[in-house]
Amino acid sequence: MSSTPPSSLLVLLLCLPSLTLPLPALALATSRRSPSSLLHQFWPRHPPNAPRSEPAAGYFPPSDGGGAQLTEAPGTSPPAGEPLNVILAGTSDPAVLVDSQADGGFRNFFLGVGFTSECLGQHEGAPQLANLGDGNGYVNETAVLRWDYGDPSLGTCRETVQGGNHFRYWTQNGASANSSAVFMATSYEMPIAEGHNIVVNGYNLGRDWLVGNITNSSIDTSTLTNTSTFSGTVSYAGFVYSTSISYVSGLLGNTSVGVNHGSTVGIDGQNALDGLVAVLDVKITTIPKNATKSSAPITAPPPPLQGLIPPLLLSLLLAALSL
Ligand SMILES: *[C@@H]1O[C@H](CO)[C@@H](O)[C@H](O)[C@H]1NC(C)=O
Ligand SMILES: *[C@@H]1O[C@H](CO)[C@@H](O)[C@H](O)[C@H]1NC(C)=O
Ligand SMILES: *[C@@H]1O[C@H](CO)[C@@H](O)[C@H](O)[C@H]1NC(C)=O
Ligand SMILES: *[C@@H]1O[C@H](CO)[C@@H](O)[C@H](O)[C@H]1NC(C)=O
Ligand SMILES: *[C@@H]1O[C@H](CO)[C@@H](O)[C@H](O)[C@H]1NC(C)=O
Ligand SMILES: *[C@@H]1O[C@H](CO)[C@@H](O)[C@H](O)[C@H]1NC(C)=O
Ligand SMILES: *[C@@H]1O[C@H](CO)[C@@H](O)[C@H](O)[C@H]1NC(C)=O
Repeated sequence: MSSTPPSSLLVLLLCLPSLTLPLPALALATSRRSPSSLLHQFWPRHPPNAPRSEPAAGYFPPSDGGGAQLTEAPGTSPPAGEPLNVILAGTSDPAVLVDSQADGGFRNFFLGVGFTSECLGQHEGAPQLANLGDGNGYVNETAVLRWDYGDPSLGTCRETVQGGNHFRYWTQNGASANSSAVFMATSYEMPIAEGHNIVVNGYNLGRDWLVGNITNSSIDTSTLTNTSTFSGTVSYAGFVYSTSISYVSGLLGNTSVGVNHGSTVGIDGQNALDGLVAVLDVKITTIPKNATKSSAPITAPPPPLQGLIPPLLLSLLLAALSL
């Protein structure tokens, strides 16, 4: 008689009471992931054979949960997407994973790197969608941050007009793969007059210039492999961040297939993507004395001007910046 239940089931039953996940969520998770990988998720130190890509790495590969490492760009036919080529790992300090400028959050870190929210709160274009394989399916981008040309208040207006580096981002926080990692689709775009297409090699270069902005040294895209690692320190508003960066393969293809603007980004026999993703692990090393942990978190810098600036006024403003 089979009187002994399989040991993994036994372990699952034993630890059920200690799981804080509500039961409906557990059921959903179980339907999408095997019980053993669910165990890895909640008890990461226990299983001896946790796959490399489980939360030890700080994120779940989206394809494990039916998602994709390419976004879905609206209005593309056949459907095409952009690579999620940078991941802020869930192993980072929890404060950095929060989409906030307060308390040293994600937006404060990226102000230190040189990226900030869009020009005067304006946002052009339909959102892209991504499915991070976390059970949430395809969802709109959270926001876009742009290279600020050294000027956090108006530099992103220059980026909007002249082109430059930018990224859209999504958090992997669905119930079935909740790593809290932030997946970023980074690319270097052309000036607005050229329809904001992506420059040649602009996905790999956008990724590596962003990494270069963290390390304050240029990254040679052509020599990167899945063993490349870097580190750097950035600071903003008194917060100091130490970042470890490793390039990983296996999430993205080394290909142009399915890639938005693929044929103009990858030319002369080169693929649009080299297949590498930069994984950032960011730790806060200094919290300024004036930081107020109790201050209400600002989930996004308030865009008081959003929608209030008619396009004509905006173009006058931009002209006044003598771009
Ligand atoms: C996604 O964005 C589109 C276009 O702005 C909007 O119509 C839609 O409601 C958004 N979806 C969600 C779930 O917010
Ligand atoms: C995901 O994890 C975060 C941080 O641990 C938690 O606040 C959030 O409630 C979780 N979300 C889900 C859907 O389990
Ligand atoms: C920082 O970013 C800018 C804009 O993308 C880029 O021109 C510059 O080369 C980057 N710096 C480094 C050191 O990579
Ligand atoms: C970046 O490096 C340059 C020298 O290459 C140095 O002058 C500058 O101070 C560095 N910036 C930071 C923020 O460390
Ligand atoms: C690194 O890339 C090589 C191919 O260039 C591959 O054989 C190897 O499995 C990769 N290693 C990891 C850890 O992904
Ligand atoms: C806190 O102090 C830092 C300097 O250490 C300063 O840059 C920052 O603006 C201050 N923040 C606030 C909220 O006053
Ligand atoms: C991508 O594939 C090309 C061949 O198509 C190869 O030369 C290149 O080394 C590959 N890049 C990486 C990072 O593996």
